[in-house]
Amino acid sequence: MHGDIGRVLIPHDKIATRVRELARQITADHTPPNMPGEAEISIVPILTGALVFCGDLIRHMPIAMKIGLMTVSSYPGRSIRTQGSSVIGQQIGDVTGRHVLLIDDILDSGGTLKLVKPLVQELGAATVKTCVLLRKDRPAARETPVDYVGFEIPDEFVVGYGIDYAQRNRNLPHIAVLGT
Ligand code: IMP
Ligand code: MG
Repeated sequence: MHGDIGRVLIPHDKIATRVRELARQITADHTPPNMPGEAEISIVPILTGALVFCGDLIRHMPIAMKIGLMTVSSYPGRSIRTQGSSVIGQQIGDVTGRHVLLIDDILDSGGTLKLVKPLVQELGAATVKTCVLLRKDRPAARETPVDYVGFEIPDEFVVGYGIDYAQRNRNLPHIAVLGT
């Protein structure tokens, strides 16, 4: 594993189309019937991986929103297996009584969402929904409840569109499998 980029798994145009669909669905689900101006949400991207996805998603969500931040580390340094998730920083703000949408890049072992969702519930959110761009094809990922999924992908290590390997390749516009 030397960090070279392998084949493109999801090209940027496919990501853009799916992100718009997700944004439409999330917006509709958070808009009270007959009260389009009343929709409101608190968005919490799980950094750093969800940064790019979140930036694109919210630009297709024409509703009032607050944005909080949470940083979780699970693949420190050059690991390609999760080392267990830990919160290493947060700036969520007041979510009391609010509808929160947690956004992550990849659902893999499920450890991150299992850690973060209860934390936000304990802060007094009215509802906490979850959205991931990618869900890996493995039992742990399939068994973790999640409200919105962009793409189902094979159980391979991927990079790009915000997702890194050892802090590289986040800035690729597409999702690629890391070369071996
Ligand atoms: P989980 O906690 O095991 O579900 O994994 C979620 C986190 O692990 C994601 O937010 C990513 O930061 C990281 N991760 C999981 N799979 C990959 C991968 O294929 N490439 C890069 N990071 C990954
Ligand atoms: Mg992450």
